[in-house]
Amino acid sequence: MVDFDSVIDRKGSGSLKWDKYLHEDIIPMWVADMDFQAPQPVLSALREQIDFGVFGYTLPPGELVELICTRLFNRYSWGVDPAWIVWLPGLVSGLNAACRSCGHPKSKVLTLTPVYPPFLSVPAYSDRELITVQMENGNGHWIMPMDKIQDKLSADSKLFLLCNPQNPTGRVYTGNELIEISNLCLKHDLILCSDEIHCDLVYEGHKHIPIASLNSEISERSITLMSPGKTFNIPGLGCSFAIIPNRSLRSQFCKIKKGIVPDINILGYTAGLACYKYGEPWVNELLDYLTQNRDFVFKTFNQDINGTSLNQIEGTYLAWIDIRNLNVKNTYDFFYKHGVGVSDGVYFGNNGFFRLNFGCPKSILEKGIERIKHAIDSI
Ligand SMILES: Cc1ncc(COP(=O)(O)O)c(C=O)c1O
Repeated sequence: MVDFDSVIDRKGSGSLKWDKYLHEDIIPMWVADMDFQAPQPVLSALREQIDFGVFGYTLPPGELVELICTRLFNRYSWGVDPAWIVWLPGLVSGLNAACRSCGHPKSKVLTLTPVYPPFLSVPAYSDRELITVQMENGNGHWIMPMDKIQDKLSADSKLFLLCNPQNPTGRVYTGNELIEISNLCLKHDLILCSDEIHCDLVYEGHKHIPIASLNSEISERSITLMSPGKTFNIPGLGCSFAIIPNRSLRSQFCKIKKGIVPDINILGYTAGLACYKYGEPWVNELLDYLTQNRDFVFKTFNQDINGTSLNQIEGTYLAWIDIRNLNVKNTYDFFYKHGVGVSDGVYFGNNGFFRLNFGCPKSILEKGIERIKHAIDSI
């Protein structure tokens, strides 16, 4: 059994999440990494590589490519040709390269809000215009208003940036929803970039479907972004990849990143390979643990704390909590003053919400939520 209850003292370890508050008593529940060690076989593989002691430029291991293709086929019946894989040191680089690969300056890029903040900033970096559509609250879970999306599209729209499973709402889109998006992209001649970094962190009763696996038409206009980073908690090792079936889109994407986006380093590849080769039992245990944390968060914010609510969390270790009823002016400052570092919803495109990362030992989660309760009681 993996011990997810153990508290690892990450303060002073150079952790972005913890060292933001190095000299303060703040519980960090913001950036999306978990407070757990990576799976033991991954640590062993890294140790072996360190003992080898030579850290030269590295080719993608053939075994890793095979593992990815087999895994995608076994999980989703998605047949991926190894030639479609483009390696990336991070998914955000992939989002940027996707924007630059489609259309031209002033072209429009559409996405749904709330969303992981780089989705909102990336289009402007390539002089594209961002168009957003607000997700709607439909009976306890977030839905995409297809009619409103349709209304916002024009001849200049070239790219749909999709996040599935969705950060921050935790939605895992159904086959029917994905078919609707896919049809829309076909109808309006849009390229679809689907960020699926959270695809393995999906709870019972839900199923991840890579949108590109639906049919060959959408596959031909897709860029799918994936990584072992979130699943196995190695986001800082920078091992990610894009899957781009269409040859000319892929060559455009590769041209854009050439000489700017570096290759993956040897430790990233080593860890990625060990994750996909040996990490599945660990992920299964992780999902059991996260399910309990998720249920605790869901109950607490829907039943135990007045003025807060949240929709079902179908995937990810992130909770998107609605505090509009509390009329808090500056969400980040409010919780910070009470000893918790959360992600303010404003950066995801929605005021009056915050994102809470529950990928941590239960004791940390309880302590953080206790402080949040005190903060709200103080209003
Ligand atoms: C949806 C999504 N995409 C991308 C990233 C970041 O990926 P990377 O660190 O590989 O750039 C995150 C991290 O939180 C994320 O949640």
